[in-house]
Formats: sequence, C-alpha cells, structure tokens
Amino acid sequence: MSKNFYVTTPIYYVNDKPHIGHAYTTILADVLNRFYRINGYDTFFLTGLDEHGQKVQEAAKKKNIEPLEHCNKMVPQFKKLWGKLHILNDDFIRTTEIRHARVVQNILTQVFKKGDIYKDEYEGLYSISEERFITEKEAETGDFRDIKKIKEKNYFFKMSKYKSKLIEHIKSNDSFILPKSRRNEILGFLNNDLNDLCISRPKKRLSWGIELPFDKDYVTYVWFDALINYISAIGYNDDNKKFNYYWPADYHLMAKDILTTHCVYWPTMLMSCDIPLPKTIFAHGWWLMDDIKMSKSLGNVIKPLDLADKYGSDALRYYLMRNMVLGQDASFTLDSFEKRYNADLANDFGNLVNRIFILISKNFDDKIPCKNTYDELDNNFISNVEKLRDKANKNYANLKIHDGIENSISIIRLINKFLEDKAPWKTIKENKNQARTTIYLSAEALRIGTILLYPIIPEKTNLILESIKSSPSDNINFGQLKEKQTINIIKNIFPRIQD
Ligand code: MSP
Repeated sequence: MSKNFYVTTPIYYVNDKPHIGHAYTTILADVLNRFYRINGYDTFFLTGLDEHGQKVQEAAKKKNIEPLEHCNKMVPQFKKLWGKLHILNDDFIRTTEIRHARVVQNILTQVFKKGDIYKDEYEGLYSISEERFITEKEAETGDFRDIKKIKEKNYFFKMSKYKSKLIEHIKSNDSFILPKSRRNEILGFLNNDLNDLCISRPKKRLSWGIELPFDKDYVTYVWFDALINYISAIGYNDDNKKFNYYWPADYHLMAKDILTTHCVYWPTMLMSCDIPLPKTIFAHGWWLMDDIKMSKSLGNVIKPLDLADKYGSDALRYYLMRNMVLGQDASFTLDSFEKRYNADLANDFGNLVNRIFILISKNFDDKIPCKNTYDELDNNFISNVEKLRDKANKNYANLKIHDGIENSISIIRLINKFLEDKAPWKTIKENKNQARTTIYLSAEALRIGTILLYPIIPEKTNLILESIKSSPSDNINFGQLKEKQTINIIKNIFPRIQD
C-alpha cells in the first residue's frame, strides 16, 4: 500500500501582494512536501487564494474595478512568486472557482438539512478588519480595528452544539493542535462560552461571496467559504476516490493569527457533516521586523521577490527555515540574513563542494576515486555522519526544521574537519590508497548531506546531485556513490555576499 501525505497552506487574501510571511508558510509546506516525497510518500500540496469577502470587495472598489477583475490581476503575483521560490504545489485553489463554490453550497445544504443552521437577528460589534462579529471583551483587547455596531438578520451555524465533542477530540489527540502551547490556548478558549457562528452576510451589505443555497439574499461568510478549500480542492463530493485517498490532511499549516478559525470553526463544520478531522493543525510564529509583525498596513513589509532576485531563492528559503524555531516568533534582519548565508552556505557548504570537486578534478581526472580499506578515523567518521543523518530525518519528521537543518550542516562541517584531519592533498603523494578512500568517503558524505538539505534548498542541491549523478530520492546509506563515475565539475555554488 502506498503511503500518502497531504499538506496545505492558508489560502491568502488577495487584497494585498504576497510578502515574506506568506512566503514563509508556503516554503514550509514545500519543504515538508519535498521531504515526504523523497521518502517515498505519494504527496499532495495545496495552496491558493481566498478571494471573497469585504476586504477584497473594498480593495477592488479602491481601484474602481470589479472584484473578480481585481482577483484575476492578483493571481499572477502569487503564482509568479511561488515559481520563483521553487514551490512545487500540486494544486492552486481559488475560492471563485466553480469547483469550490459547488462544494461550499453542498456543505451548507448538508448542515442546513441537519438542522445546524438557523436564522436570527443579531446586534453586536463587528470588526471590519477581521470580518467577523466580536465580543465586548475582544473589542477591549485593542487587537481589532474598524469596529462598528451592526444589527441585522443572519444565518447562524450551531457551533456551540459541538463544543464538548471538540474538547474531547483535542484532549484525546495530542497532535491535533501543535505546538502544545497553541493546543492549551484553544482549550482555554473553549473553557469560556462558545457562541454560534454567524455564517452569512446580507447581500445589501456585502455581495461579493458565494450565495447561500437556501436564501438568495445572502452570501456565505468568507471564513465558512474559505476553510472548505481544503476539501473542495481534493475532490470532495466530486472525485471521491481522490478525496478519500488524501483526506484527512496530515498538516494544515498557518501562523497563530488564524488558529481559532482552524481549530474551532473548521472542526465543528466537519463534525456537522460527519467528515473526519484533519490530523494536525500546526501554527507557527510570526516573522517580525523590529519586533513588529509584518503587515501591509504597517508598511514594514520585506518583498521576498526582491531578496530572492538578489540572493537567489535558496538563500531566502534557507534563512527562513533555519532562523525560525517553529512555533516561536523570529526577527527578520538583513544583517542576520547575510551572516547566516555566508557562514553556512558560502563558507561551510560552498567551500566543501569546491574542495572536493577540485581534489577529484586535479587528481582523478574528474572521476570518483575507488575506496580502499577503512581505518579507525574513517569508521568513526561514517558512524558520526550516520548519527547526524538519523537525527536530521527525525527532526524534519517532527517539524523541528531548524534542528534538522543544523544536523545536516553539521554533516557538512564534519566532512570539512575530516578532510583537514586526513589531508588527502598531502597523502596523495605518499599513500594514494588512503587519499582515495578519504575523498570517496567525503564525496559520499557530501551526497548524503546534500540530499538532507534538498527539501530546504532544492535548486542548488539539485545542481550538486546532478553533477555527481545522484538524485534527491536516492538511498542515503553509505556506499551508493559509484566509483570511477565521471562527475561534472561545478564551481562557486554559493558565492559569498560581500559587505
Ligand atoms: N485568507 C485567510 C486564510 C484562510 S485559510 C482557509 C488569511 N489570509 S492572509 O493572507 O492574511 O494570510 C495569513 C497567513 O499568512 C498566516 O496565517 C501565515 O500563514 C502567513 N503570514 C502572514 N504574515 C505573516 C508573518 N508576519 N509571519 C509569518 N507568517 C505570516 O488569513
């Protein structure tokens, strides 16, 4: 039986150009997807755009164009960026697509028929920036902008009905919400009264949305619409074979800002339709600039395209993945970006590749040398590389990406140290067999370290692997590299960033 893996990013609002925060979650999903794929899983990676709702309607209005025209103009910006960042998504869902709207209406009909939707008049505070009704208590926190008092008739989803079932699910599934701190946060939230969810907007106030199948004067609330993308994209109620193959999702990835919608709204919606819940909802921290969350309104947004253009997509991917401890916030600075690149990629990795390739080209006519018997140093080296390799794989699988990277780069450092200890440039004259073995083992360990770094920096690692006639899904045990194999010498793979 094949193993499968399904990972999603949030679908991003199209009221704004993509910035580094969006790039981060998308790269993270790509890293996990590549990691599982090279480990033999049949993977599916979904990203896309959230195109309905007030924010988008307003953004279009500002430009004096129709909302759909606005969305169509935004789509290429996201797609272009994902291409540039080597994002290998399997699908790109837009909530304005018919395949999605059909599923939203199907879900609404099911929930309605079940008796989980009722109409009521509601008077309360509404945050336009968050597009939802908020409590007095929430309004006092200062986290919400553009608050208005609104009184209107709307449809409500009986979310409160599923509260105890949800609590039970969270408590009996340790990895349903990760990291643990977020799980506790949601359990704390559920300790209070849980309101039902207003899932409609009267068309006279907001027309840009999916019409309710049971009342044409209303459109669907943007969050109720958007969350359904995770199942509409993989064929819910359309291609059952595909849907049942990939669902439930292994990871819904996002930042902590949209934890409640994913951990409370989404599971209760699924419960109402008797659809199994996703396996893990993972919320990472925020990228901050000068300790402030990056956002368009604050104007402190770093454009990932600019950085990727200047330093290459791998440099940006490496920095983002290595410098954020998953779950915690991280500060983005150009200084730390350049330091990280120069230390790990230009110095450690880049120099090692140069060194090994030069040794092979100078002494072995561009061919991988044949290994001979191993001495104690060789055996220790192999066993240390294997230990780090196993740790890296374990860390990646446990979403400790920064640790997995550190283990992999430690392999690179270990090879540099091994070469210094063995000095094959000297032994080549007096003990050629030893020099051969040293260079073979170094090249083989380089292959292993490179494969481990492939999910993070696919572009450059592919170049290295191609040059030694290997590929990312190859076995990562010692002894795979073919002796006498001719390699293509590549030079200066990670040029230093000058001050
Ligand atoms: N459209 C909703 C999501 C619907 S999902 C069914 C939305 N869109 S968003 O454009 O605002 O994207 C929010 C997500 O972008 C965050 O959860 C996170 O994945 C990413 N990030 C946006 N800014 C970020 C940072 N400053 N740092 C890290 N990630 C950030 O919410």
